[in-house]
Amino acid sequence: MKRIPEPFRIKMVENIRMTNRAERETALETAGYNPFLLSSDMVYIDLLTDSGTGAMSNQQWAGMMMGDEAYAGSRNYYNLVDKVKELIGYEYTIPTHQGRGAEQILFPTLIARKKLKGGAKNPVFISNFHFDTTMAHVELNGAKAINVVTNKAFDTGHYYDWKGNFDIEVLNKTIKENGADNVVAIITTVTCNSTGGQPVSLANMKAVYEIAKQHDIPVVIDSARFCENAWFIKQREKGYADKSIKEIVKEMYQYGDMLTMSAKKDPMVNIGGLCCFRDDEELFNETRIRCIPLEGFVTYGGLAGRDMEALAIGLEEGMDEDFLSYRINQVTYLGEQLKQAGIPIQYPIGGHAVFVDAKLFLPHIPSDQFPAHALNNELYLEAGIRSVEIGSLLLGRDPLTGQQKESPMELLRLAIPRRVYTNDHMDYIVDAFIALKQRVADIKGLTFTYEPPILRHFMAKLKPITEK
Ligand code: F0G
Repeated sequence: MKRIPEPFRIKMVENIRMTNRAERETALETAGYNPFLLSSDMVYIDLLTDSGTGAMSNQQWAGMMMGDEAYAGSRNYYNLVDKVKELIGYEYTIPTHQGRGAEQILFPTLIARKKLKGGAKNPVFISNFHFDTTMAHVELNGAKAINVVTNKAFDTGHYYDWKGNFDIEVLNKTIKENGADNVVAIITTVTCNSTGGQPVSLANMKAVYEIAKQHDIPVVIDSARFCENAWFIKQREKGYADKSIKEIVKEMYQYGDMLTMSAKKDPMVNIGGLCCFRDDEELFNETRIRCIPLEGFVTYGGLAGRDMEALAIGLEEGMDEDFLSYRINQVTYLGEQLKQAGIPIQYPIGGHAVFVDAKLFLPHIPSDQFPAHALNNELYLEAGIRSVEIGSLLLGRDPLTGQQKESPMELLRLAIPRRVYTNDHMDYIVDAFIALKQRVADIKGLTFTYEPPILRHFMAKLKPITEK
């Protein structure tokens, strides 16, 4: 396929070291066969996440020198507020240390408001798909998180333009079953990380918003990869080919009342988040109150002044059309090559990552032996590449029965940091998979030697199952 060259040149490099197989074997064993516990010095190409791992531009670094580190009323805060107004069209902004910071101040505020109106006796949040920290914050606040993504997303081999879309019928049914009074908010996650960085169409966002308004339910846009979502709309949605990314972003945010954002993704900062409101000043003020004890004073929210400046600049850079074309093209380039090599992947290829279908790649490993995690380990041993399992290891156990839940998909996510790796690195990743394909049958499942009670995938220790 045709590659789009980088719309930047490289001014500074960070050396990375290629390790040998014996070093990697020792490192992985010491890490309890959990790549989360590897020292990053032992990783050659790190595809664990695209979050906070991007390369800032010279403009962003210059912005870092303009930090106003006043405790209250930093000039960088006002710059950030102005950028959000200009690019997203939302009036009120609270900076947070990252995405989950926004979740932890917003969700209890929304529940409290719903209770005040006499609702939320059995509170639920409905999303196309809650990201894991998003679900954790819903549950920490005593509510239930329900996902209603289209089931077309679960058939990885089947092409569908909008594998991040809500299933509208299921959404309506879920509201009815739970009672609109109990639905604290609808969360539209763009792009949908959990199904493979898959986009949500504007038509779907609009339909969701209209349903929410019928029932007086607020809509939160979980915005980690909003620019990539806009890029897919431009490519795929009828009538949007000639619209600019900026116009599309503005339209997307009309179908929400507020946003949470992990700014560590599309806006390419190493730390930062946002919680913004279109026009609800009261809710903004209620949320701000929670910001002070949890994140920091309302004009810094856990960030340094310099971080806010880099974020204000990154918001605009992330929307640059030349950048987005190159960015998505690089991820597509990796995915298409893997597909050609016969590696099963979520198709179409997502915005920030290629998701390998480990259920299909390693059919001999059952879900409770974590096929995608086994693949993660093998990829590391083969080539020093670290990635992340999105499957049954991450999903965990049923809190009531203690039974291991079976994830509908066993995926290995190869997340591509922004502006960090070249296409030669992508070729190297493909070669590693081609080598693994030769010895698929030798790859073994895993069992726990230590299983933490919550969010276990981060700190778990495992060992390969060697006997039959
Ligand atoms: N929402 C989505 C859709 C995310 O992907 C993430 C983070 C968050 C919220 C939370 O944001 O990390 O800044 O607190 N996703 C990262 C990932 C960690 O690897 O996909 P955060």
